[in-house]
Amino acid sequence: MSEIIIKGTNRLGGTLDVQGSKNSSLPILAACVLVDGVSVLHNCPFLSDVDAAIAILEHLGCSVKREGHTLTVDSRNISCYNIPEQLMREMRSSIVFLGSLVSRLDRARVFSPGGCEIGLRPIDLHLSSLRALGLSIEQQEGALFCEAKNGLEGTTISLSFPSVGATENIILASVFAKGRTTVLNAAREPEIEDLARFLNECGCKVYVGSHGTVVVDGVKRAHGAEHTIIPDRIVALTYMSAVAACGGDVQFRNVNTSHFRSVNSVFEAAGCRLEDEGKTLRLVSDGMLRAVRDIRTMPYPGFPTDAQAPVTAMLCTAKGTSVIVENIFENRFNHVGELVRMGADIKVEGRVAIVNGVSSLCAAHVLAVDLRAGSALVVAALKAYGETVISGVKHIDRGYEKIEECLKKLGASIERSAESG
Ligand code: EPZ
Repeated sequence: MSEIIIKGTNRLGGTLDVQGSKNSSLPILAACVLVDGVSVLHNCPFLSDVDAAIAILEHLGCSVKREGHTLTVDSRNISCYNIPEQLMREMRSSIVFLGSLVSRLDRARVFSPGGCEIGLRPIDLHLSSLRALGLSIEQQEGALFCEAKNGLEGTTISLSFPSVGATENIILASVFAKGRTTVLNAAREPEIEDLARFLNECGCKVYVGSHGTVVVDGVKRAHGAEHTIIPDRIVALTYMSAVAACGGDVQFRNVNTSHFRSVNSVFEAAGCRLEDEGKTLRLVSDGMLRAVRDIRTMPYPGFPTDAQAPVTAMLCTAKGTSVIVENIFENRFNHVGELVRMGADIKVEGRVAIVNGVSSLCAAHVLAVDLRAGSALVVAALKAYGETVISGVKHIDRGYEKIEECLKKLGASIERSAESG
């Protein structure tokens, strides 16, 4: 298994082009299933999760061609309505293929999805919402047999939690439903808006309101479209955490700062200087950060749970005590044990992490067990004295395109070992 080796404490500087969004690419690739045509998707990152979505599309009968960051998806010949368990288990986002499949074929046979081990991650909101649209769902031996005998009927769905995936699944399942579907307490993440934009470019009618309401008016079919995926706000925040921790001066390009403005205040409270130009952002840090008292992860537009791990790593050497509350997932401190192995002083009580800043971190052999926990270990290793070896790199490759090349370009001493054994 390949490893990433990082020799710490280099300051970081230069310019970084941020990749396209994983969490926008995945639902838009799933949406291609309901499109009877050819779609061209630009700014699609090279990620193993994107490869997993492509494998599902090809299994269903689509042809997918990649030319650099552009994917061309021909979904005119879809006849298969089942997704094998091993493809479903590759990632969490496989579950939103369900909504798209029932829109296209009125039926689907799928399994519970995989994804990061950051909590139980049930799909009850997905299933109850799709049943409300008239989908019959039988669960047998882990498989979900789904059928819309008379098509789906628009209705009003009020989500008990603004689930990103459930919102995406409802939108994908309702684009051809009879009449209007209204989702209340829908997720408001930018990835939802990007999905709606793509579907509307395909001839659908999806309206994302400003207060967590989404309205979908059923249409007859969807044609192909050309679309550019939004920038990845979590990747931007991860690399910002690295620069803040190590010290440096970096210009981030291909970002949309309106997608993470709620987090800028955390970097400024920690002592960074930000120059926010909308599509570019400059971050300057002396590497001597101040603790941040009160970080609480919340649904968008609050502090994103996906940035919690890298920001926790950034605060390990901040002066003072930082308090981080993880409100979205019940098991999202997998990075803490490994950070403590590197000399961090962190106590976790339930959903609260208390980070007492230490003067320095030291290199260690550490293991990434999920995507964002892995990114936190990279941030910490860049700050640590000595040479850190990070195993479990496959988790990091799910969401970060060529992470070692990006960081090397900014002056980090980072290598990826060849696949061994
Ligand atoms: C999406 O996951 C993202 N993944 C996650 O990013 C992100 O952390 C999460 O949204 C929250 O922003 C993708 O977009 C592929 P949720 P999703 O449904 O849709 C509970 C990353 O690192 N819930 O909004 O699975 C759930 O257990 C990944 O890129 C139910 O109880 O998130 C969690 O506690 C990790 N029942 C909360 O809601 C359901 O049916 C938020 O989950 C669905 C969710």
